[in-house]
Amino acid sequence: MIPSGTNLAMARRLAAERLAAAGIEAAASEARILLRLATGLDPALPGAAAGTCLDPAQRDRIEALIARRLTREPVARIIGTGAFHGLDLALNAACLIPRDDTEALVAAALDLLPADAQARILDLGVGPGTVLLAILSERPEASGLGIDLSAQALAAARDNARALALADRAAFAEGRWTEGLDGPFDLIVSNPPYIPSADCDGLEPEVALHDPRLALDGGADGLDAYRAIFADAGRVLVPGGHVAVEIGIGQAPDVAGIARACRFRLTRLISDLSGIPRALVFAAG
Ligand SMILES: C[S@@+](CC[C@H](N)C(=O)[O-])C[C@H]1O[C@@H](n2cnc3c(N)ncnc32)[C@H](O)[C@@H]1O
Repeated sequence: MIPSGTNLAMARRLAAERLAAAGIEAAASEARILLRLATGLDPALPGAAAGTCLDPAQRDRIEALIARRLTREPVARIIGTGAFHGLDLALNAACLIPRDDTEALVAAALDLLPADAQARILDLGVGPGTVLLAILSERPEASGLGIDLSAQALAAARDNARALALADRAAFAEGRWTEGLDGPFDLIVSNPPYIPSADCDGLEPEVALHDPRLALDGGADGLDAYRAIFADAGRVLVPGGHVAVEIGIGQAPDVAGIARACRFRLTRLISDLSGIPRALVFAAG
């Protein structure tokens, strides 16, 4: 419990100690974010704020937020916002928290699209709009459709498109990959679930306990989504169109094989910031 008489700076120290004792690496910076959320004050700012004595309601709010973080709920989920490609994206419980790794997929897509491209983009498994909105924010003539099986994730995507003034170029629809879609699209992008089912429970607790299983579980070998996407992608693409997908560690040969069997040619492999192959680009035909 945070004792009465505690000021903001002391509360930040106490919070950081408790998070660190639970093995949370970025304890100091996360304590600062949680205190700012609970009090509206920034404990790192010099001057009056740090010495502000907390009232009981503020102490309760801080306790509640620390308790959530101690269950390994990620800070982005607690504050309800994730940063990606310079955009702030609102998140709800059905949304995967955007990962820096996914920048490789966005880079792959942007390389395919000239600055003035009037391309139509299809994002399969759009979640809160992460990939599609990042691309549209950089390509002002492009438009896109984001598909997801989760209506709740799509609600966040629509909110994000509005907040980023991209709603006139971004549409969203509930669906299962390309089922029932007509096209044609110039580019399909997808960061599908790609974790083998048996590995999901062993992921770090922030992911295993708090990311939606629908966003993680890629079936027995992690490749179910790629099979479904490539089997039908040619039908909704323009001739010579492209598919760019994010992949899990070590999945490049298998995903390339699935695509090849569906008459797609691998044209590029892009690694993430750790040097791990993370995005593959394929051309139709
Ligand atoms: C790994 S998350 C990617 C979210 C977001 N595009 C990103 O890159 O952060 C995969 C997304 O696919 C969605 N999904 C899972 N199965 C699906 C299916 N059969 N059809 C459409 N979307 C699906 C999930 O709801 C989730 O939003």
